[in-house]
This record gives sequence, structure tokens and C-alpha cells, in this order.
Amino acid sequence: MSIRIMGTGSALPGRRVENREIVELVDTSDEWIRERTGIGSRHVSTGETVVALAADACGQALADAGRQAEEVELLLVATCSPEDVAPCMACQVQSRIGAGNAVAFDLNAACAGFLFALHTAWAYVEAGIYRNALIAGSEVLSKLVDWEDRGTCILFGDGAGAVYVEKCETGGILSFVQHADGSRGAVLAGGSRPLENPWAGQRDFQKFLRMDGREVFAFALRQVPLNVEEALGKAHLTVGDVELFVLHQANRRIIEGISKRLGADISLFPMNLDQVGNTSSAAIPLLLDQLNRKGKLRRGMRLVLSGFGAGLTCGACVMEW
Ligand code: UT7
Repeated sequence: MSIRIMGTGSALPGRRVENREIVELVDTSDEWIRERTGIGSRHVSTGETVVALAADACGQALADAGRQAEEVELLLVATCSPEDVAPCMACQVQSRIGAGNAVAFDLNAACAGFLFALHTAWAYVEAGIYRNALIAGSEVLSKLVDWEDRGTCILFGDGAGAVYVEKCETGGILSFVQHADGSRGAVLAGGSRPLENPWAGQRDFQKFLRMDGREVFAFALRQVPLNVEEALGKAHLTVGDVELFVLHQANRRIIEGISKRLGADISLFPMNLDQVGNTSSAAIPLLLDQLNRKGKLRRGMRLVLSGFGAGLTCGACVMEW
């Protein structure tokens, strides 16, 4: 028994910010950003929320699958940029789309969050607890980004992607691996609030995301190929069996490096970061939805999904579409 993706959806804020607009904020250039990251533009919220974007993407995923919101049994939102601590984003999405019969909660594993949520849904279904799930990755990272830090503000974008999955007897998701290394948390950290209570003294806090880009880059290049090989091994498959690698969209050079290390042609690695940048937990489902809508995914096709991010976290999944 496993789960199969039956429908996909995605949503982007209306405002698209080009590299040349970032050049007005920090000491960088369109050429540098394109050459070093592959990013040309990103969408930035001017009011769209994590909940609104996720709800839009979820509605589309349900429509694509031909299912009604009341049928959903589990609703997960992966995000590291929630508007509120309570109620969680998933409960707010549930209310918006009318998925009143679902159990709903959030999950934060940063850019690997969508994969971790997919794995969670798979485990619930395998355990016989639920028969289907609606899973969104949704981020408005623009509120956590320091728009004066050229090391981060060039990279991130806002958006959401969602998938609706159902229990299946054959095919679907074939294997999963996931890992976390909290000892390396400082490599990509921040977005915290000051401790404010009558007894606490003044404490340091990191309002904005800070990143050691080179460290994250090296981590991704080393870890993603290992995760992919591990997941393929669990599914008794090899790199040569994979028809498409849908990777976290962090940096074109990272994806090119991974394709070399795996010995798989770069044409098997679709990318959209030129248009949307790094949308963290939304990146994989957003790209999946774009591929699905372009007719690039056919039933039975073998895909590998793999992501990595703050934590540090990483994971991979092998599936038959
Ligand atoms: O979703 C997971 C989260 N994050 C990531 O996946 C990010 C992974 N890392 C990266 O994508 C890359 O490390 C960056 C794009 C962040 C940086 O690219 P890099 O090729 O690793 O640059 P670098 O940090 O090694 O810096 C090279 C030079 C430095 O100047 P010096 O010291 O050589 O004079 C930087 O100060 O480039 C400079 N630099 C920039 N120059 C123009 C750094 N950022 C910029 C910039 N524009 N935006």
C-alpha cells in the first residue's frame, strides 16, 4: 500500500520583482544573480498571506483530482513563515476551503518541509489512519528576509504549491528517506522574536534570516546525491531508472552539480527558479504543479523528489507518478 498524487495546484503573489529592482536595494547586479544562482525574478507578497496562497493551491489540487474539500481526511501545511502561531496555518486553510472533516496541522522543516509533510501523510495512510491527504508548502519569506543583505535577499521568493494524495495499492510513492542535523542549525537561521516578559532581561535575537551560503551550497551538493541514491536503493532502482528529478529550487549551480554527481543528464532536472527564485517548502510542489499543467508528467513515470534546507534537513522520495 502507498499513496499517489492525484492532483496538484500552486499560487504566486501578483507582484513579480525583477533582479534589476533588487539592484536598487543592495550592491549586486542582474548578471551576478543570474550567473551565480540562475534566478531572474521572484514573486513577493504585497498582501497575499501564507494561508491565502496555500488555500488557493489546495483548491486547485482538489479540483485537479476531482475531489471535494469535505472528503479530505488530513490537511498538512509545511511552512517556516507562518503569519500566526495560533491557529496554525493548516486550520486556517481548512476553514477557508471548507475541509471540515480533515485533521489539520502545520509542519516546519524549512525547505525540506513539503517532503517531510508528504512522508508524514504517507505514514498515516500506511498505518491505516487516513485514506487521503491534502499537503501544501506555502511561504511568505519576504517578511523574514533582510532586504539589505545581498547574500539572502536575491534568493528567496514567495508562493505555494499543493498536492492531493490518495491511498493506492500499487505504484505511487515507492520509498522515502529523511535526515536532520540540528548541530548545524546556525548555518541558516533566524526569523526570531525578542523574549518579552516581565522577568526576562534583554536577549539577543535574530530578526532576519542569516545564511552561510557556501556551507549550505556544499551541504546540498554532498547530501542530495547521497539521499537520492539511498532512496533509489530502498526502491531497488538506480539513477538510470529515473525519468525526472524534481529537486528543491535553491540555485541552478547546485542542481547542475547534483546532476553531474549522479551522472544523470541535466535535461532530466526541470527548473523554474529563473521565474520564482527559492520558495522554500513551496518549491517542489510548485514545480510539480507547473510540470503537471504543462502535461510533462504521465502516469507510471518514475520521479525522484529531493530537498534540503535549514535545520539542516534533507530528504528524498521515489515515486511512480
Ligand atoms: O533553500 C536552501 C537555502 N539556501 C541555499 O540553498 C543557498 C545555497 N548557497 C548559494 O546559493 C550560494 O552560496 C549564494 C548564491 C548564496 C552565494 O553564491 P556563492 O557563489 O557561494 O558566493 P560566495 O558566498 O562564495 O561569495 C563570492 C563573492 C564574495 O565576494 P568576495 O569575498 O569574493 O570579494 C561575496 O561577497 O560574491 C560576493 N557576493 C555577491 N556579489 C554580488 C555575495 N553575494 C553577492 C551578490 N551580488 N548578491
